[in-house]
Amino acid sequence: MSAPVVLITGALTGIGRATAFAFAEKGARLVVSGRRDELGRNLVHELRALGAEVEYVRADVRHDDEVKLLIDQAVARFGRLDVAVNNAGTEGTFGPLTSQTAETYAATFETNVLGTLLSMKHELRVMLAQGAGSIVNVSSVLGKVGTANGAIYAASKHAVEGLTKSAALEVASTGVRVNAVAPGPVATEFLDRVTNGSKDRMDYMKAYVPARRLGRPEEVAAAIVFLASPGCAFLTGHSLSIDGGKLAG
Ligand SMILES: NC(=O)c1ccc[n+]([C@@H]2O[C@H](COP(=O)([O-])OP(=O)(O)OC[C@H]3O[C@@H](n4cnc5c(N)ncnc54)[C@H](OP(=O)(O)O)[C@@H]3O)[C@@H](O)[C@H]2O)c1
Repeated sequence: MSAPVVLITGALTGIGRATAFAFAEKGARLVVSGRRDELGRNLVHELRALGAEVEYVRADVRHDDEVKLLIDQAVARFGRLDVAVNNAGTEGTFGPLTSQTAETYAATFETNVLGTLLSMKHELRVMLAQGAGSIVNVSSVLGKVGTANGAIYAASKHAVEGLTKSAALEVASTGVRVNAVAPGPVATEFLDRVTNGSKDRMDYMKAYVPARRLGRPEEVAAAIVFLASPGCAFLTGHSLSIDGGKLAG
């Protein structure tokens, strides 16, 4: 079989970037997507230096036409789509529920929920025609439990969990699989923004992780590669927590 074709949204930083390198190490052909062209070109340069076949495509996952073009360009370049990692996400505006507005709600849900829905819609169009494919959505432990001062983000990731399970059921008999990873706190720019650069807040986060440390993007990437691997062909509709034991008790 030829090298799998892997598409990653939000691929230019953090977990998405680590996932691009993890798949490149496995010999995958890659389409990395994001909104910052210079970062995209630099990432392509780095991955090609490792021998990977890779293209960057600009896309904002909130827009149906951009997501459609992203998937069409991936297929035009590589002829198929084997794995899609829907990783683009935003923390939105953390803070008390009483301070939230229709705008903070929409800003979070448009990327995390609508973005995942539009991505799956266009990826499935290709994968169903192929009769094969694997989607991994990036959820969060906050898609499984609530959190004070993060209600909208938690609700958006609960929606990602629901989309993942529903899509998995819809396509389970076709050879296409849909799963999710649910990271606990991971050391990326995302967490720097959520904690506002405060060491105290970061220490507070770590204290609630039984492993007493933050996760590394590479550890989430390894789980994504595992879920997408052919050996997991009977695994669908699952959300895998990668959280240093946070949800164990
Ligand atoms: N770090 C954690 O603790 C943690 C825990 C659980 C889940 N997650 C999830 O993991 C995923 C990756 O986050 P990360 O931690 O790696 O943080 P990150 O470095 O901030 O990555 C998020 C990426 O998504 C992109 N993005 C945001 N909105 C987008 C949009 N509308 N269209 C296209 N791309 C968009 C960002 O690009 P721009 O620079 O253009 O905005 C960025 O590259 C997110 O879904 C996040 O919710 C993170």
